[in-house]
Amino acid sequence: MTLVDHPLVQYKMSRLRDKDTEMKEFRELIEELTVLIGYEATRDLPLMEKFVETPIAVARTMVLADKVCIVPILRAGLGMVDGFLRLLPVAKVGHIGMYRDPVTHEPVSYYCKLPVDVMEHKVMVVDPMLATGGSAVAAIDEIKDRGCKDITFVCILGSREGIRTLSKRHPDVKIFVACIDDTLNDQKYIVPGLGDAGDRLFGTK
Ligand code: PRP
Ligand code: URA
Repeated sequence: MTLVDHPLVQYKMSRLRDKDTEMKEFRELIEELTVLIGYEATRDLPLMEKFVETPIAVARTMVLADKVCIVPILRAGLGMVDGFLRLLPVAKVGHIGMYRDPVTHEPVSYYCKLPVDVMEHKVMVVDPMLATGGSAVAAIDEIKDRGCKDITFVCILGSREGIRTLSKRHPDVKIFVACIDDTLNDQKYIVPGLGDAGDRLFGTK
């Protein structure tokens, strides 16, 4: 697990957590934080050599060697897609729909659309929140069922329990997180957290 605790990240987290931060700024912060965390999460992308002609001479340059697919977990993960596409504009985007049952808090899968050749890609699963870890584990189960081997999970706020669960169920998956909170409440919300990320992004509550 990698904690991306750059000062700019911590400052933006403060604004994100604030209950008085309104939807427009909340959206912008999620996108900005995604760029900052995504920069670290893409640090190990493999490169290959490419020779280009500058106006002066031939230069040995490096370009990305692997194809990348971004997979947001709906809904809140959608808020991270544009930030990631600013880093990787030619990445494909798959979608996994997952909601937590309000009583059991278990994830319920309702949608999955991934590129047919997704197994040939490095997959970046994005969701701002990792609470019990159930949604991330279930989404990654579905992605692995399609043959994917190289998976990274990028989130903004994680709980200790969620990180522990995801690491145990998918030890091969790299996790990047901007902030870690200690506890979950009875409704399995992260405490102190930032509330319901989907509702704050889309104005549904
Ligand atoms: C939120 C969040 C994660 C999940 C995290 O989605 O975006 O997907 O909860 O909780 P977990 O780690 O306990 O599974 P939610 O189920 O609220 O759906 P929404 O994004 O559509 O609101
Ligand atoms: N989902 C959220 O949006 N927030 C939490 O605190 C937990 C799950």
